[in-house]
Amino acid sequence: MKKELITLNINGDDHEIAVLPWHTLNEVLRDQLHLTGTKLGCGTGDCGACTVLIDGKSVSSCLTLAIEAEGVKITTIEGLAPEAIAAGDLESCELDPIQESFINKGAIQCGFCSPGMIMSSKFLLSHTPKPTEAEIRAGLSGNLCRCTGYNKIVDAIADAAEKINGA
Ligand code: FES
Ligand code: FES
Repeated sequence: MKKELITLNINGDDHEIAVLPWHTLNEVLRDQLHLTGTKLGCGTGDCGACTVLIDGKSVSSCLTLAIEAEGVKITTIEGLAPEAIAAGDLESCELDPIQESFINKGAIQCGFCSPGMIMSSKFLLSHTPKPTEAEIRAGLSGNLCRCTGYNKIVDAIADAAEKINGA
């Protein structure tokens, strides 16, 4: 089957990409554009490791066809700290406040779930700037972590909310 040329707006830049109709957004991000911060876990919408933002809302990139993502704004974890990514230096460049809180609160162990957790948190804090603990846990209900036991992640999001919105 012939590939179709589509344009995806990712982290503010347009990318022209040849895709087959069944290619997922996750495949395009990771395999074609090498934006491997977005992970692939289950591939069935259950783990949240592949979460990105589409027009500001969290979605599973493993369940989104690339051709469905034309004409929208896609944000990946790389888009939260573009200068650090460009410089290859996460220590001295500015990170998103949620990323900083994940680091400062020890909310990352193996790190596989972290990009998806952070993107879901970004969406949560965009519509609920001062979330309760229950709201944070509900906001993360689509994201699985095998390492941390979740408490430090919840603390990190509460810390980020306080930094951003004075919660
Ligand atoms: S990889 Fe998409 S939800 Fe698990
Ligand atoms: S830190 Fe390992 S899966 Fe969450």
